[in-house]
Amino acid sequence: MAGFYGGSSAPDMPPRMPIPAPGSDVPLGTEDAAVTSEAAREDAMTLQFPLPEQRVVESAAGRAAVQTVTGETGPTGRPMPVLPDPRPVTEHGNARVISMCNQKGGVGKTTTTINLGAALAEYGRKVLLVDFDPQGSLSVGLGLNPHEMDSTVYNLLMDPEATLDEVVVPSGVPGMDLLPSNIDLSAAEVQLVHEVAREQTLQRVLAPAIEKYDVILIDCQPSLGLLTVNALTASDGVIVPLECEYFALRGVALLKATIDKVKQRLNPGLEVDGVLGTMYDGRTLHGREVLERLVQAWGDQVFHTVIRRTVKFSDSTVAGEPITSYASGSSGAEAYRQLAKEVAARCLDV
Ligand SMILES: Nc1ncnc2c1ncn2[C@@H]1O[C@H](COP(=O)(O)OP(=O)(O)OP(=O)(O)O)[C@@H](O)[C@H]1O
Ligand SMILES: [Mg+2]
Repeated sequence: MAGFYGGSSAPDMPPRMPIPAPGSDVPLGTEDAAVTSEAAREDAMTLQFPLPEQRVVESAAGRAAVQTVTGETGPTGRPMPVLPDPRPVTEHGNARVISMCNQKGGVGKTTTTINLGAALAEYGRKVLLVDFDPQGSLSVGLGLNPHEMDSTVYNLLMDPEATLDEVVVPSGVPGMDLLPSNIDLSAAEVQLVHEVAREQTLQRVLAPAIEKYDVILIDCQPSLGLLTVNALTASDGVIVPLECEYFALRGVALLKATIDKVKQRLNPGLEVDGVLGTMYDGRTLHGREVLERLVQAWGDQVFHTVIRRTVKFSDSTVAGEPITSYASGSSGAEAYRQLAKEVAARCLDV
């Protein structure tokens, strides 16, 4: 197991290893048990779940909540809940800060930050997106040129005189702002090591934004280093996007252990708001099996909403705008609107 700042050096597990239980390095069951026959897996997929009108689930905050379910089984194999539109808000503030976190690269952290943010903004929430990745993909994905930024989140971290208002820019989506970033941020990881209370630096930077916004989404870099620990320390919740393919499950135990350590040592209020299956292909048994395993390991923390694989996401990145405006009627846009409803029901409107 790597240290607290273990970087992206997650110990690679061999293929066909069962998913470790969250927070543990000990795999569930044995390898034999995980490798069930094709027929047995098909059987498991077609198992009919009981479909009560209402059932009690444990919310992200650990509270028991009554959930009304539709008569359908969702892609995660559980009864699909009825997700109401988020309640309208007349006043803004008391933002919930949520980090998108997974040390594996290319799993949909940035795509989820942009599109969940845009969908929440459509529902009237005031949203701030924080690009906390030196790659600057979030900023680029919203049409900014990384070389033309006067000041970025790096200036806020390193210069106590810099103010949030000087750095925040409109995202192009009504109701959604952006704290941009570029390669300068990579220097912060090194420079922050010498700071007092280095893990709380982003928390201090974001403090003035809490009263202005309803939701602050932090797009983390693919690593568990000091920047990501800063993001987790500044957050009320974490969303873990996971690509629905087998290798995406590797390193999940290390991620959970890091979240737990931050919770114990730096931020006792930190909660896992949800685990999101991304790039899902429902036509393959493989994709369905990965989702099934996610639910086995994370239970009701797995979002009922699943983001399917579609090229529209890459197209919208090239266009520099969220899918909710680039292809408003597409299934991808609808999926992120549904995720916005689920996030609101789980941790914003409670
Ligand atoms: N549901 C999807 N279907 C198809 N392509 C997707 C989907 N979600 C994201 N992508 C594409 O996959 C690539 C990686 O996505 P994204 O940048 O969001 O991942 P990431 O986790 O932020 O990556 P990194 O770790 O490098 O920051 C992008 O090209 C994006 O357009
Ligand atoms: Mg990214």
